[in-house]
Amino acid sequence: MSFGEQPLANALIAPERSSEQQLTYELAPTICSACGLFQLLEQPTATSIFTRKYPFFTSTSKYMSNHFSHLARDLIQNDPTLKDGGFVIEIGSNDGTLLQSFAKAGINHLGFEPSESVANVAKKNGINTDISFFNSETASLIRQKYGPADIILGANVIGHIAEINDIGSGVASLLKDDGIFLIEAVYLGDMLLNTAFDQLYDEHVFTFSGTAVANAFHKHGLELINVERQSVHGGSMRYTLAPLGSHTCTAAVKNLLDEEKNRGLNNSATYIEFRQRCEAIRRDLPLLLSEISGMGHKIVGYGATAKSTTVLNYCGLGTNDIAWIQDSTKAKQGMLSPQTLVPIVPPEYFREVSPEYAVLFAWNHRDEIEMLEREWRKKGGKWILYIPKVTVA
Ligand code: SAH
Ligand code: TMP
Repeated sequence: MSFGEQPLANALIAPERSSEQQLTYELAPTICSACGLFQLLEQPTATSIFTRKYPFFTSTSKYMSNHFSHLARDLIQNDPTLKDGGFVIEIGSNDGTLLQSFAKAGINHLGFEPSESVANVAKKNGINTDISFFNSETASLIRQKYGPADIILGANVIGHIAEINDIGSGVASLLKDDGIFLIEAVYLGDMLLNTAFDQLYDEHVFTFSGTAVANAFHKHGLELINVERQSVHGGSMRYTLAPLGSHTCTAAVKNLLDEEKNRGLNNSATYIEFRQRCEAIRRDLPLLLSEISGMGHKIVGYGATAKSTTVLNYCGLGTNDIAWIQDSTKAKQGMLSPQTLVPIVPPEYFREVSPEYAVLFAWNHRDEIEMLEREWRKKGGKWILYIPKVTVA
């Protein structure tokens, strides 16, 4: 299916550059019937996406920061040798939110992070960060310099890298014989179930299922040994992989692969239905917004997420429909949304204006946001939700 021409989801525009032509590509996902890998047919080059201006900072969500400190705590508890000369590598270490727990525990660590905007924050906080893309070449340089890793982590990043086979061989070559490779990513099964089409944008070149992850890494000698569902980012999966035969495989893996077969994750009918549900949202959301604004109410957006770029452009929405979008990220405030040029404002402004309606583009952080905005809710502030379908809450 196609979500039409889209700008880069995180390429926010400085107001003085708003008349310039922006890079676009066709957002067209498909699924490989041979290996089950759900993917975009076209992706802009990684160097145009992950730049010194990349504006997504993991630490903007307290909930995500907690999630990652629990993950680190569990990994450290499960492998007491880590503190004794172990080595942890993270791909896509961003502002160092996850690695900081290993750093605090005195564990050797290194993050690969190409986007200077976020990598520099990590470095400033004392997190060892290599400002580069992880690939088989950089993996081999690091192995020569520091030796193999006990754990390689990749949260919300492995599906961002088009050269998945190069990643597979890079990870396999950098991992100890009994090491583990841990991936966390938005789960295809949940994306389909919730009609969360806004999880699709240029950075998400692959949306993983257990079946696809098992197939993609098996050819590099890595076996899927465990899977654990995660509630973060609207429904994610944690995949643990290890060199073939080095670990026992849990029953959860077989259960997930069976469940994916039973749910028809590799059947075209599943995707035809998904497309129809997406089209219903594209029809209903603009209708609801024009009905509400027709009654004289102000509508804004909450969270200038990458997801909001897909929704706004797919549904043909812009400044006539959404006055502005609040976002707590300093680097986003004062900028305009890609292509649709909706101004992004700080949370203080949201609270001052206290608009009647807000489209919740950061719906994956709803619990955290409900807590933050309880005063606004008490005053009658209402969310406009579009996932899994268009409603007011
Ligand atoms: N792991 C963090 C950040 C996810 S955003 C979290 O879960 O919140 C994806 C990050 O991966 C960005 O910071 C981006 O710059 C980085 N990235 C993209 N391609 C990469 C690659 N090939 N190697 C390492 N990092 C990469
Ligand atoms: P994400 O959905 O890709 O994680 O992005 C969430 C965006 O929402 C990010 O730009 C920060 C913003 N945000 C807020 O403005 N307020 C909040 O309370 C939270 C959790 C996120």
